[in-house]
Amino acid sequence: FSKSSLLFLLHVTFHFNTINGGATDKQFPENFMFGVGSSAYQTEGSWSDDGRGENIWDHYISSISKNITDISNESYNRFKDDVALIANMKLKFYKFSLSWSRILPSGFNDSINQIGITYYKTLIEELERQDITPIVTIYHWDLPQVIQERGGWTNSSNIQYFVDYARVVFENFQTVKYWLTMHEPKQICRGGYGDASLAPFISKSGVLDYQCAYVVLKAHAAVYRMYRAEFPNLGGKISIALDGSWSIPVTNSRNDNTAAIRRTAFEFGLYADPIFRRNGNWPNTVRQIVNQSSDANRLPVFDTKEIGEIRGTADFMALNYYEARMVQYFRLNSSEPSYEQDLRMNISKNSSWSEGANGFAIVPWSIRSFLNYVKTEYRNPEIIITGNGVADDGSLHDSLRTNYIADHLSNILDAIHVDQVNVTGYIFWSLLDSFEWTDGYNIHFGLYSVDRNSIDKTRIAKDSSTFYQKVATEFKIPF
Ligand code: NOJ
Repeated sequence: FSKSSLLFLLHVTFHFNTINGGATDKQFPENFMFGVGSSAYQTEGSWSDDGRGENIWDHYISSISKNITDISNESYNRFKDDVALIANMKLKFYKFSLSWSRILPSGFNDSINQIGITYYKTLIEELERQDITPIVTIYHWDLPQVIQERGGWTNSSNIQYFVDYARVVFENFQTVKYWLTMHEPKQICRGGYGDASLAPFISKSGVLDYQCAYVVLKAHAAVYRMYRAEFPNLGGKISIALDGSWSIPVTNSRNDNTAAIRRTAFEFGLYADPIFRRNGNWPNTVRQIVNQSSDANRLPVFDTKEIGEIRGTADFMALNYYEARMVQYFRLNSSEPSYEQDLRMNISKNSSWSEGANGFAIVPWSIRSFLNYVKTEYRNPEIIITGNGVADDGSLHDSLRTNYIADHLSNILDAIHVDQVNVTGYIFWSLLDSFEWTDGYNIHFGLYSVDRNSIDKTRIAKDSSTFYQKVATEFKIPF
């Protein structure tokens, strides 16, 4: 068997197993971590209060509307209520992110905003008081605007800026035991610098997205190594949250099977391989394809030292999984090289799949395939699912969300009990309906709704929050 046909067999086998699985009566392991996630820009609001500096999302929002004065859920002022919601759901983990420009308003460590530090200290203390363990993301997409003006994640100087910022963070929040340096580097790089779907909205596909991947990986690794060297007694675990969409070949042809493997390599392996593979470095497929291009130096080359510095800089695999796609081999022949051309495929959805309100395809069995893929390819790491969720119309009777949670957890249980994948936690996205980037408030991911017309942004429970509370209490899927 070639590697590609073996992988295709895996696809089929896991789909089959899942259909015949029936994990609903199984228990989650004793210390399984149930939690919920959010991010600073999507929930905090108070974007100009207490000395916070401007970031790339403020910059974008103010460029499209001068009238927007309050972004998001006012969690900056209502964080105690948020913590109470998490405690009521009996969840033991809260994943939130720090706003770089709230901590360092100038972007650099020349001026530390003590009010910002105090805000996060108080949030962490409140969580600990309620017996909830913080999982802290140092960077979730909200780069200080001044740093963007120097090239942002495509400028190697950003490695040092990020290390300087992270040092301030580690010095100040010493009780935190779970760190994520960055959230979904693929989105940062493709969305920010490749296809212009996220701030800073640059489209230099197949060039700046690779350059960004290079800088982001080196910045992540530098922060990991700085934490180990300078804070050896704090004992926290560090990783980076990597997002992946599972790829399913349209036909059983060799070309379509390799297309599925190739997409995973380009979108997930690009970030996972340098950190988690024994030999580090970019995935072979990516190097081979880009090297064949007329403009081969689009993919920065890692030298041996860099490979060694990046390899092994994660204490667990943090996996964000939301959806799947169908892929079919297709060769785009444009004279202008691009990431899309490197991918060599058409990407689509199966018409039989249901979808979330933002078009994400709901394919619960594929989370199990992804987990097995990670186990096999990356030497059976500990895996925490750090993002999984679905968007709907915002209704309080959100059966779509409840079923999504149940179906994904059922597949995770099968991955744990049948396939022996070492999954130790599940962080649902998201606590509240939040600011969903370019979709604004039209897309709802929360276990709680937020009344945007009320002065205090009242939180209202959806049915899914009751369901998730039962899961976290009973440690099984309650049917
Ligand atoms: C993951 C992103 O990081 C998060 O910010 C976003 O809200 C969810 N995906 C849903 O799109």
